[in-house]
Order: sequence, then C-alpha cells, then structure tokens
Amino acid sequence: MQIIQDISSTKSLCRSLKQEGTLGFVPTMGYLHEGHLSLVKQSVKENPNTIVSIFVNPSQFGQDEDLDTYPRDLERDVALLKECGVEYVFNPNAQTIYPSGFDTWVVPEKLASVLCGKSRPGHFRGVATVVLKLLNITNPDHMYMGIKDYQQLRILKQMASDLHLDCDIVACPIVREADGLAMSSRNSYLNPDERKRALSLYHGLLKARELYEQGERDCGQIIETIKSIIQESGGRIDYIECVDPLTLQSISEAKDDTRMMLAVYFGKTRLIDNMALKA
Ligand code: PAJ
Repeated sequence: MQIIQDISSTKSLCRSLKQEGTLGFVPTMGYLHEGHLSLVKQSVKENPNTIVSIFVNPSQFGQDEDLDTYPRDLERDVALLKECGVEYVFNPNAQTIYPSGFDTWVVPEKLASVLCGKSRPGHFRGVATVVLKLLNITNPDHMYMGIKDYQQLRILKQMASDLHLDCDIVACPIVREADGLAMSSRNSYLNPDERKRALSLYHGLLKARELYEQGERDCGQIIETIKSIIQESGGRIDYIECVDPLTLQSISEAKDDTRMMLAVYFGKTRLIDNMALKA
C-alpha cells in the first residue's frame, strides 16, 4: 500500500499506472464505511488499478459547519482499503491543495442554487474545485461517486461535460444500514435516540413511493406525507422537494424519474437522503 501526500509523485504514479490499463478513482473525505467501499469495490472490479483520495476538503465546509469535528481515522481507512485490494491512496494536506495565493475556483451556477446549495452557500464551489483538482492530479479514466449525494453527482457530471473532461463518472447506488438509514460518515454524530428517529427519512421516502404506486401524482401531497412522518419523529426539516432528475428544479406533477430530495436535522446533525419515486 502506498500512501502519497505530494502532487508530483501522485501525477507520475498515475501516469505510469495508466500504461497498465484504465485507472479508477474514488474521491472521499475518509472515515470510510460500506457506502464508500461499494464504490471502491466497483472500481477495483472494473479497472486494473484504483486510486482512492482521502482529503477533508476545508473549502466545502461553511464557517459554522463541522470541519474541525469531521470524523477522521486514516489508519482504519487504509486497512479497509487494503482489504478491498487498493494499493494507492492520495492523502494530501490542506496546504498542498490550497497553497498560499490560491485564487482560482470552479463555480457551478444553476444546479448549485437549489437544495443543499441554497442551505450551504459556497459548498458546491468547494466540491467542484477540489474534484477538478483531484481529477487533474490523478487523470483517471473512471471516477466512482455515490447517488447518496445526488446533487453533488449531478453537478460534477455537468462540470465534466461543460469543461470537456475525459473522465467518465460512474454513479453507484446508495448503500443503507440493515434498517434502511443511508450510510454516512456523519451518522457517527447521532446519539442512540437520534439514530432511531433518523430512520423516518427512509420511512418517509418509502411511504411516498407507496403513494405514487397507488396513483398519487401531486408532488405537494407527496411532500406533505413525507413531512408529517419526519416531523412526527422530531426531525427539523431543512428541505423536502420533488425535483426533475436533470435540472434539479422543483416540479409539481410526479413522474417515474422524479427525485425526492431531503435534508433534515436530528439535533445538530444534518442528514441527506434521496430516492426516485418509481422503485
Ligand atoms: P464523502 O462524503 O466522503 O463521500 C465520498 C463518496 O462516497 C461520494 O461519492 C459519496 O456519494 C459516496 N457515498 C457516501 N455515502 C454513501 C452511501 N451510503 N452509499 C453510496 N455512496 C456513498 O462526497 C464527498 O466525500 C466529498 O464531497 C468529495 C466528493 C470527496 C469532495 O471533497
């Protein structure tokens, strides 16, 4: 296992790996769980070489957000990656990625003006910038990303198309705990009571699917149903929306591919989840 911190060694490593065939890349902020590992396993299966980045990117956290407390455990992450057959980890520090004088940003516009982009101003600017930097450093053929962060995935696919990137972005399904809670590094913030109540996200989404299956097409009604399930559990709603899967704009008449998007607080922890209306 090679854990590399600097950019020029990573660039030359990736150049030589690409001589052996396609290179898969999985960007992460670490504290890995089965959701992350599902992307890693898919990349390992589909490419002779895979590189994983672990970098808690400061520029995608707002001033009052959890950058300082974001969970970290490099040793455990490396052991998990080894078990998956990963041989290369890029683990830069913030100074390497954002040296003094850093002044150039990738700013997604419309797609970042809604949902999480509205509640977390500047978040997707930080995400798009760091991901473009990571792509320029590793130059992979395929980048694996989770549908768990649907808006992020959509924005980065748009960035890849808009900026003529050669990398193909592979969308991977949401991995859930046995009871249905979407896996997230931030689940570790939840106390046992919040953990139980957080299940209402999944239950709300499933109930909405059921309504759709029974013929309900009014997004307003669908949203109200999810809202009442979540509010009953004591969750504080940031947003619940039914959106077009490509434009991420709110829609009123539900279709099979309509995406239900949620962000809800339990205590101080903000969780997101999403699902297509048609199973
Ligand atoms: P992070 O939250 O660590 O997630 C890394 C990748 O794992 C993302 O593509 C995310 O969608 C995926 N992922 C997380 N939980 C998942 C789950 N339960 N099922 C499937 N995939 C899951 O997303 C980021 O980091 C950062 O914004 C990053 C892209 C690395 C840029 O800093």
